[in-house]
Amino acid sequence: MKPTTCLSLLALGAALGSTAVYAAEPIEPIKPVQEVNLAQVELGKKLYFDPRLSKSGFISCNSCHNLMMGGTDNLQTSIGHNWQQGPINSPTVLNSSLNVAQFWDGRAADLKEQAAGPIANPGEMAFTHTLAINVLQSIPEYVNEFKLVFGSDEITIDDVTQAIAEFEKTLVTPNSPFDQWLLGDEDALTDQEKAGYALFKDSGCVACHNGQAVGGSSFQKMGLVEPYVTENGAEGLAGITGKDADRMMFKVPTLRNVELTYPYFHDGAAKTLTDAVDIMGRLQLGREFSEEENMQIVAFLKTLTGDQPSFVMPQLPPSTDTTPAPTPFE
Ligand code: HEC
Ligand code: HEC
Repeated sequence: MKPTTCLSLLALGAALGSTAVYAAEPIEPIKPVQEVNLAQVELGKKLYFDPRLSKSGFISCNSCHNLMMGGTDNLQTSIGHNWQQGPINSPTVLNSSLNVAQFWDGRAADLKEQAAGPIANPGEMAFTHTLAINVLQSIPEYVNEFKLVFGSDEITIDDVTQAIAEFEKTLVTPNSPFDQWLLGDEDALTDQEKAGYALFKDSGCVACHNGQAVGGSSFQKMGLVEPYVTENGAEGLAGITGKDADRMMFKVPTLRNVELTYPYFHDGAAKTLTDAVDIMGRLQLGREFSEEENMQIVAFLKTLTGDQPSFVMPQLPPSTDTTPAPTPFE
């Protein structure tokens, strides 16, 4: 954390009538949006919601990362082009700018690189970058806006992914009850929630779930103490490195807004937070939580729900006579 920010947060804590406690805690408050290019954000917001970037003309980023539902689709695995069943659970886009890398296996370095994936993924939006650009280029309002933002008449996939990534940087969720507590408001949490946080720390969850995003900062083995049994074929990091030691190594998911992002795990197999906490306790830490302890941890996890993104719904410019027609059915 930069010293200046630290000071201003401490000042905020002091203004609240007490001192910020988080300096000593393994979790930090989410910072509000900082340093974004507003023109790119506005354009990226349109593209995020525009289903014309898909072959069917029906699937947008928001289809699987619904910003009214915690940035997910709340399905076990996503539904892609032609009603295809996706191979893996859709992670939230909320606070994804804080991730060390993108995807469960980290195969994209950052949000810009990530955004190029789904458009051309046959199981997701099933388009090609060339066709997506042809669509945008046929719509004069888009051509003008891209020119204003990026200074060229030619729209490129690089500009498209840059704008979407810039928009995604605004999808942070500060001001959760837990963050208010970190910043010094003792009354922001109930005794049960505080007991849950104490258990979360003392039993070792924070070894993997820490920092601003309460996750997202490292890759860890799923099934450390006891192997994880799943029918899902995803291998985690091993799918990229080919190394046996990397089998079932997944990016630790953020626990911010976890109340909203069910079902849980890469295979979406845990339907409730109660199940997820029980499995984490046994498989990662070799610990059986009592019913009461489980409830305390779940209560704590629900305090991680922050202010959800809110904005005026973007209006998308209409297609023209020259816009390539969508192909919703094969
Ligand atoms: C058909 C559903 C679907 C669509 C459409 C889709 N995604 Fe995703 N998205 C997923 C799934 C599933 C994953 C996880 C894939 C994996 O890790 O292998 C994912 C992963 C991500 C991640 C990584 C998050 C993390 O924590 O690792 C981001 C960011 C993201 N998508 C943004 C987007 C954007 C931007 C678009 C539009 C250009 C988009 N997605 C379109 C399903 C979808
Ligand atoms: C050794 C590292 C490690 C420890 C310790 C750990 N976790 Fe996790 N956690 C992970 C990984 C890795 C995943 C993703 C696993 C997967 O999807 O297969 C995960 C997933 C989760 C999820 C599901 C999130 C989602 O969006 O799918 C929850 C909830 C969770 N952990 C809570 C906890 C709690 C509570 C504890 C302590 C009892 C804990 N974790 C301990 C590494 C860890």
